[in-house]
Amino acid sequence: MKANQQCIVMGAQWGDEGKGKIVDLLAAQADRVVRFNGGNNAGHTLVARGRTWKLNLLPCGLLHGRPGVIGSGVVLDPEALFREINAVQQQGLDVTPDQLTVSDRTALVLPMHRQVEAAEESRRRRPIGTTLRGIGPAIQDKAGRRAIRAGDLADATLLEERVDDLLSYHNALLTGWGEPTVDKDVLLQQLRALAPRLLPYVDAVPPLLEASVRAGERLLYEGAQAILLDVDHGTYPYVTSSHTAAAQAALGTGYGAAVQATVLGVCKAYTTRVGNGPFPTELGGPDGDALRERGGEYGVNTGRPRRCGWFDAATVRAGIRAGGIQSLALTKLDVLDGLPEVRVAVAYRQKEEFLQEPPADLSGDLEPVYETLPGWSQPTAGIRDFHELPAEARGFVGRIEELTGVPVILISTGAHRDDTIVRGCPFYGSRSSTHPPVIDNHPPSAHVADDVRRH
Ligand code: IMP
Repeated sequence: MKANQQCIVMGAQWGDEGKGKIVDLLAAQADRVVRFNGGNNAGHTLVARGRTWKLNLLPCGLLHGRPGVIGSGVVLDPEALFREINAVQQQGLDVTPDQLTVSDRTALVLPMHRQVEAAEESRRRRPIGTTLRGIGPAIQDKAGRRAIRAGDLADATLLEERVDDLLSYHNALLTGWGEPTVDKDVLLQQLRALAPRLLPYVDAVPPLLEASVRAGERLLYEGAQAILLDVDHGTYPYVTSSHTAAAQAALGTGYGAAVQATVLGVCKAYTTRVGNGPFPTELGGPDGDALRERGGEYGVNTGRPRRCGWFDAATVRAGIRAGGIQSLALTKLDVLDGLPEVRVAVAYRQKEEFLQEPPADLSGDLEPVYETLPGWSQPTAGIRDFHELPAEARGFVGRIEELTGVPVILISTGAHRDDTIVRGCPFYGSRSSTHPPVIDNHPPSAHVADDVRRH
């Protein structure tokens, strides 16, 4: 394998860091784009080919003419997939089985999973604020060894056995909750109707990725959610139900050599969070409102406000270690333009104790210990050369590098794809492609994962 033949892009905070723009930038350098975690709880809006595209499940490289792969670490809602395929088809992009491979081991998200999730969330004493896309229950079924996997659709007898096992569990649960149960015949009928549509896309992913790398192709792994939402290493229980660390790229594809990829974490120059859960550097009141306004921190579709606060180097540093992040892409630097000073949390204080490391439970009486840095008055928006940044902005970036221990190799200074400072990103540069690029004068793009929420 050549150096820098594979790259993993993942979120280094609580999601919505602007991964969409970075993945879009790098997809043009890749031959295949691979999803390995999450499901349609993730997503972004991209403007490409002169149009706006909303993608939740489809790997974004399809917009660049690059084939996409959905690995077994994704849980796949087939209804959502075909809705998305139809939507992009109406916009002029055909997603044929030549261009999209779904792993035969991918567990399916079924309508009952959304029903179960809504019932569970409404009964929690402290709701998590999930996306209600059925992701958690589908992953629980996978771990419970009762999931229906994409490849099961090919075997009618096996499928019926699986449905029996699935419903014996869920109908008992739904009955106990006093919720309507799931009808076996209706579910089987839905799955049988799905089989001829989905199966043409279904194949074994590990040999495909191995052959691709052997042929010299470059693989971009598109991470969903972010390390602080990881089920083990995030702010449990206010997390997603799967792993979001770079190691998941190997586990969630079955291609172990993905661990050799370059790992790029994406973080904002400040912090945002959607859903419930601890957020030590959250700014309340007018300061939080001001940052939200400056950053346009509202879901693009729903307009729902995101929680906003200062950059938290202590959690990002821990996330870098857990996630296997080797370098950072820093986004939305321009949002801090004009502030007299900027703050960065470097540690915490709990009662009288000084904590260098974030504790397992970030909630409670935890106070961030801030370092205050000088702000900059000249605008950074649109700057594409690091040396043109105001000295204070360069100082801020340098301090983030010191505090997190990794280099900042990409800096985004605006929504437009070209508003980016590239400082030696190993995956960015000349590519020897087998797939011709789609010529495109590109786009603002925005990560809108929180917009897929239904509540
Ligand atoms: P779930 O993934 O739907 O189970 O939601 C669990 C938590 O993760 C909720 O707080 C969601 O808001 C959050 N979440 C899930 N996916 C994303 C994402 O892609 N970006 C940001 N937050 C997310």
